[in-house]
Amino acid sequence: MKHLLKMMDLSCEEITELLNLADQLKYERKNGIEHPRLQGKTLGMIFQKSSTRTRVSFETGMFQLGGSALFLSPRDLQIGRGEPLEDTARVLSRYLDCLMIRTFEQDEVENFAKYGSIPVINGLTDFAHPCQALADLLTIREYKGKLEGLKMCYIGDGNNMANSLTVAGLKTGMKVSLATPKEYIPDAKILDFAKDYEGFVLTEDIYEAAKDADVICTDVWASMGQEEEAEMRKKVFKGYQVNADLLKVAASDAMVLHCLPAHRGEEITADVFEAHANEIFDEAENRLHAQKAVLATLVK
Ligand code: CP
Ligand code: NVA
Repeated sequence: MKHLLKMMDLSCEEITELLNLADQLKYERKNGIEHPRLQGKTLGMIFQKSSTRTRVSFETGMFQLGGSALFLSPRDLQIGRGEPLEDTARVLSRYLDCLMIRTFEQDEVENFAKYGSIPVINGLTDFAHPCQALADLLTIREYKGKLEGLKMCYIGDGNNMANSLTVAGLKTGMKVSLATPKEYIPDAKILDFAKDYEGFVLTEDIYEAAKDADVICTDVWASMGQEEEAEMRKKVFKGYQVNADLLKVAASDAMVLHCLPAHRGEEITADVFEAHANEIFDEAENRLHAQKAVLATLVK
């Protein structure tokens, strides 16, 4: 594994190894065992979009591994004034040991990996959010003791989270059912990947998707960069809410996950959110442990 650009690039074995290492690093952290595996190493982080979890967990994670992290704002980098990405990638590769990027186009992240010579981590694009998907798998495995054979359901927009969870779930032996409005289905590349898996279902019916589900996931109706569509999307997605009625058709011990930030009263009701707050905030914490496993694996 050279980069973490999207879940499709990882094998089931690579995912399992990352989750096992994340468990170990989490155990060490909770028990005061230091693990300075990346002493003297530096991670650069370019954020073209806002972030709470990704920024803080990467920065803290790098520190806990004995290295350091640099927050690079595109407003300050020459990239904001038009310096080509191909040049920026080659220059940053001479200073840094790893680069994390949050941006819009998946191609930008792929091109950084192509032109640079250091590992590149996708910290979210419009297409994928692999760091979040790994943290979600880690959380499900912690609560359920396994992944294989479970049914994961996703309700809402066929966005970066839907894309990444679909691939992450199917690769690790889960059944995955998605309920999205028909104009908001996942990316064609994801559907092409998923079509070979018997356990994959795409429907407009949230109750069909959630039936007997062990895990119910959701995400915002309007992602970063879609702020102008937010009002229109509220109408389209009105029926695509994780609420107490929906949970009645899921398994009685179903978990609820949300990558956050959440909009209570839109994609999830406040009562369901609070009833599952332990799972949701464990999920947020697991960003730290999963990403430390990614860093420790990629940075040599
Ligand atoms: N879930 C997630 O990626 O959160 P941030 O946008 O706060 O980084
Ligand atoms: N789909 C959301 C995820 C945020 C973590 C977005 O892209 O804004």
